[in-house]
Amino acid sequence: MSQLTFDAASAKAVEAIYMTPDVVAQRARVIDLLAPTPGERLLDVGVGPGLLALDLARLVGESGRMVGLDLAPAMVAAAADRLAGVSHAEVRIGDAADLDLPDGAFDAAVSTQVYEYVDDIPRALAELHRVLRPGGRAVILDTDWRSLVWHSSDTARMDRMLACWDDHLADPHLPAKLGPLLRGAGFEVRRTEIVPMFSPRWQPFSYAGGMVKSIRNFVRTNGEKHGLEPAEQAAWWSDQESLMAADAFFFSVNRYAFLATR
Ligand SMILES: C[S@@+](CC[C@H](N)C(=O)[O-])C[C@H]1O[C@@H](n2cnc3c(N)ncnc32)[C@H](O)[C@@H]1O
Repeated sequence: MSQLTFDAASAKAVEAIYMTPDVVAQRARVIDLLAPTPGERLLDVGVGPGLLALDLARLVGESGRMVGLDLAPAMVAAAADRLAGVSHAEVRIGDAADLDLPDGAFDAAVSTQVYEYVDDIPRALAELHRVLRPGGRAVILDTDWRSLVWHSSDTARMDRMLACWDDHLADPHLPAKLGPLLRGAGFEVRRTEIVPMFSPRWQPFSYAGGMVKSIRNFVRTNGEKHGLEPAEQAAWWSDQESLMAADAFFFSVNRYAFLATR
């Protein structure tokens, strides 16, 4: 396992990807599912650069409360900058698997693209359940990398690249197991939705445009463990460049959103 590290450089890269239209649409979907109302107390577990937390803080208003926490100091710094002028918002270091927060303190919580990085999911979900009030809502969204359709002229080489990329997180297939995991933690699952990240053509400013670079960089550092020599990585990249130039690029992966209540 060689998981991604969320340092200052990757915080910037994540932030750029999160401004792209697919991810902007994802945030709108998550907000719709959570349906926050003025005065509510909200928690964002794994707040990242704070884009969703800022929208949520505005929606609950000054009579509400927004708490964002994240394990990575660089992410906490980015989110704290973004939420600096919002007096009812607070950002702090924290671990999803060990929440330093009182029982029943929140009306609702979100966690997008975070649990897939967490080793002990039953423990993290038990913690989420504990800090919500009875009847409180949670929206959890993660990617299942098995849903990826990414065109390549060499499928076997693409499969080797993606086997390496699977190492960037704790569980590349978490969504398929999330329903029973949530029920096991005491939640009731109310709704589930697919949130696609879809680029049927090459578009540099897109989720796919950002991920192509992230995956290339990750494999550059970790590929040799998977027998991916630099020449094979270069051939993979050259194939992708040819497909982009020929208007034959295609990338699609699904994220899965769960609305659950305590
Ligand atoms: C891909 S980013 C998602 C950020 C944000 N939720 C969003 O959707 O914009 C994953 C985030 O999860 C955080 N993270 C990973 N493991 C964590 C844990 N055990 N507790 C809290 N945060 C964690 C990382 O530091 C990173 O900020």
